Amino acid sequence: MGKVYVFDHPLIQHKLAYIRDVNTGTKEFRELVDEVASLMAFEITRDMPLEEVEIQTPVSKAKVKMLSGKKLGIVPILRAGIGMVDGIIKLIPAAKVGHVGLYRDPQTLKPVEYYVKMPSDLEERECIVVDPMLATGGSAIEAIHSIKKRGAVNIKFMCLIAAPEGVDALKEAHPDVDIYIAGLDEKLNDHGYIVPGLGDAGDRLFGTK
Ligand code: URA
Repeated sequence: MGKVYVFDHPLIQHKLAYIRDVNTGTKEFRELVDEVASLMAFEITRDMPLEEVEIQTPVSKAKVKMLSGKKLGIVPILRAGIGMVDGIIKLIPAAKVGHVGLYRDPQTLKPVEYYVKMPSDLEERECIVVDPMLATGGSAIEAIHSIKKRGAVNIKFMCLIAAPEGVDALKEAHPDVDIYIAGLDEKLNDHGYIVPGLGDAGDRLFGTK
């Protein structure tokens, strides 16, 4: 079964408090999401493999450790996932970015894929699927199905805020995927919003209503 990690780092929690606040405007919201995405990427990459290489310092030769070249893929779920991409690739500039767009069918209420563009070598990459909110889990589950169909085998899911309902659904659908969360909230309300949550992440990031 996939593991669930809730990041309790004080900086992440402090910034998340501002992100949640209804009085935080679009500019600040976007900057904070970017910063928290960076901090989460820092934590999530803790287990990246290193290799020893020899370099020359101004003083002597030195054996140092560098990333062993493992390839990463960042997969934002459109549209709100885009708000987390820059914060991650600031730390991992060589990562490739694939996009997946989903909408909810008004009849079935199921997520339907309308756009997918992925790096060609997904099977060789560690993929981090990102979406600020894990609510019912429907979009995350579908996005992960979509990248698995295209070859991805090593997958993590990262979000700012999750509802327990979404975490359970995602764990059940994709037991091989570890889940990384900044805030695990109480529940979903009747409109599918996470409580207390932060409202609509896409609208708050892009200043729409
Ligand atoms: N999507 C959001 O943007 N907010 C929620 O609370 C739930 C889903």
